[in-house]
Amino acid sequence: MSKRWNQERKEDPYYQKAKKEDYRSRASYKLLQLNKKFKIIRKGDRILDLGAAPGGWSQVALEAVGEEGLVVAVDLQRIRPFEEENFLAIKGDFTTTPIKEDIMEALEGQAAVILSDASPKLSGIKDVDQIRSMDLFLAVMDMCDSNLRYNGSLIMKVFQGPQYPEILQTVKKKFRTIKTTKPPSSRKKSVEMYFVARGFRGSPRSG
Ligand SMILES: C[S@@+](CC[C@H](N)C(=O)[O-])C[C@H]1O[C@@H](n2cnc3c(N)ncnc32)[C@H](O)[C@@H]1O
Repeated sequence: MSKRWNQERKEDPYYQKAKKEDYRSRASYKLLQLNKKFKIIRKGDRILDLGAAPGGWSQVALEAVGEEGLVVAVDLQRIRPFEEENFLAIKGDFTTTPIKEDIMEALEGQAAVILSDASPKLSGIKDVDQIRSMDLFLAVMDMCDSNLRYNGSLIMKVFQGPQYPEILQTVKKKFRTIKTTKPPSSRKKSVEMYFVARGFRGSPRSG
């Protein structure tokens, strides 16, 4: 990482707040702000957190679901475990069959909420990155079909770009309501946006 990046990070109020309040990442505040506004996660919920490392969103989800809930977190990177027993981490690529199987096993049923803060690994080549971004989005949709309960919710990061209208249309078909939002802790210069989608219509596979 560059010297400038490091300096900007240290001066970032959410980075400092996360350090002070013992959150694993500044990203925690994005989910805290989204959940405060839209009230998506409830006590006792089963949550699937995709692209979860280092675990900032999982930490917020664990607080929100309490002891009765469950958080299953997946990332290519290892996620350090939490003390809570109702937290399960899976290391691997959620677009692949073995990891999809591990997720189903860990969830032991359908999730009330799927979270995805996953970002594709960028190559810097526009066409390649758009394909990677679309593949990741489609994998999240696939996760909803396999693991989200009827009427469940999705909070997902998306990037504004040429594929954005197609992505929005796809989510609209699957969910009854969708809000596009950018929480205050999301950096203004970042093209990331968040979808908060509610009322999952159910998997087409279940007929
Ligand atoms: C912005 S970070 C997530 C931060 C996290 N929400 C937090 O609060 O700590 C995005 C993550 O997505 C993960 N990721 C991207 N593609 C993935 C995939 N196919 N399978 C699993 N994880 C993936 C990356 O490894 C990266 O750790």
